[in-house]
Amino acid sequence: MKKKILIVENESRQAKLWMTKLEGEGYKVSWAENGKVACDKILKENYQLILTDIRMPQMDGLELLDWIREKDKEIPVIIITAFADVDSAVRAMKRGAYDYVKKPMDLEELTQIIGKVFRMKILEEENVYLKKELSRKSGMLVVGESYEFKKVMDLIARVAKTKSTVLITGETGTGKELVANAIHYNSPRKNAPLIVVNCAALPENLLESEFFGHVKGAFTGAYEDKKGKFAVASSGTLFLDEIGAIPINLQSKLLRAIENQQFEPVGSTKTVFCDVRIIAATNVDLKKAIEKNEFREDLYYRINVFPIYLPALRQRVKDIPYLVEHFIKMYNIELKKEIKDIQEQVLDILTAYSWPGNVRELENIIERAMVLCEKDILTTDLFKMLENKNLESRSPLLDVKSSEEFFVYRNEQSYSESKRKFVSSFDKNFILKTLKEAKGNITKASNISGIDRKNLYRKIKSLKINPKTFKEVANREEN
Ligand SMILES: Nc1ncnc2c1ncn2[C@@H]1O[C@H](COP(=O)(O)OP(=O)(O)OP(=O)(O)O)[C@@H](O)[C@H]1O
Ligand SMILES: [Mg+2]
Repeated sequence: MKKKILIVENESRQAKLWMTKLEGEGYKVSWAENGKVACDKILKENYQLILTDIRMPQMDGLELLDWIREKDKEIPVIIITAFADVDSAVRAMKRGAYDYVKKPMDLEELTQIIGKVFRMKILEEENVYLKKELSRKSGMLVVGESYEFKKVMDLIARVAKTKSTVLITGETGTGKELVANAIHYNSPRKNAPLIVVNCAALPENLLESEFFGHVKGAFTGAYEDKKGKFAVASSGTLFLDEIGAIPINLQSKLLRAIENQQFEPVGSTKTVFCDVRIIAATNVDLKKAIEKNEFREDLYYRINVFPIYLPALRQRVKDIPYLVEHFIKMYNIELKKEIKDIQEQVLDILTAYSWPGNVRELENIIERAMVLCEKDILTTDLFKMLENKNLESRSPLLDVKSSEEFFVYRNEQSYSESKRKFVSSFDKNFILKTLKEAKGNITKASNISGIDRKNLYRKIKSLKINPKTFKEVANREEN
């Protein structure tokens, strides 16, 4: 794709000269004779760069620059100034021009500057991408404050130091791949590669070669030797995603590769040795698969050395405000937004929803709301479709009392304060709801909630809740 440049210049002779030069350099160039015409063109076309004179009748270059900055923060603008008019050039730079060139213009200098602008753009884009990748890879961004999730974090920290095989289970979108990353990038192998194989994405015949590689001529289409992922991941980590999808025929070979750290490429008899750490993930129940003879029991025991179960988001709603905060920060950078607040009612909606797609769904919903958001606060109207879904699958949690006073995060302090309040009000909601379900019986409530009975009792006391009222209410309802 040719890059599109718009030249804005009232003198046609000049403009033609520059156009010819830049077209010769492989750009697609259009011309507008003044700022007004330029605006029309910019609205219709996507230009990657604008080159504009400053002095023009009607709308001048600076006005055009302001107009562009209002419309689109991204598109680079280069200003052309008369030799004596460096002041305007400086003003233009302050108002967001990328660079300026002086008239009479040296055509070589112009192409160099344009080349530099495009290289800078690529670098900027890469930078945003790299930052995102890095923060993900470092495992720093595994967010979660609930008791359930802190247990997971603890397991990650412990197992990262070892070479043990890890089996991560959990519903879709609970963060299995993220956790695999966190383990690898916190392990002594962090400087070696983390290689991902999605076992569900390839048919059986290709999967074997994907794992172990092949030699030239091993099958039709094997035109040359190819290394498999076990070889590529050597001294690093191999993440076998959706391991439940591996065809049963391949499972014994995989078992041997994991157990003995050796394998033969397809079509070869030569044994290759490797040193890989295995992390596997699945959202299917492997025990059931074993019963149905779809998964080998010995392989299951070999990979289930260190199991990590990721609870569904609806089982740890306490994490929701923290995740929301995290995604807002992340997408503020990615979408170049400056969203600072979220209406407290939004959190009510988010905690009441059942999240079948777990954290991924939450992330998508927040991103979508932020794209649509035109203010600096996320409001309930952006989450309407969740409310509709909630009517179908309303969690009983919020029937008791909805959360209060959550989230004003103009500054960190008030943010964490309101978060704390939200979390504690949430605790209370949870306990009230469980007591209601258990009809005031604390032992039963302890069983339902999974909170140790003694702790639960202490919590009930500290929150000044009287369990008897629930018994009475239940009795009344039954009669
Ligand atoms: N605890 C968390 N903190 C921050 N981000 C998270 C967390 N858990 C999940 N995410 C984000 O949610 C998205 C989904 O996570 P991931 O891809 O790891 O899920 P998964 O369990 O592998 O899903 P699937 O089973 O569908 O493959 C990712 O963008 C991930 O970064
Ligand atoms: Mg995944």
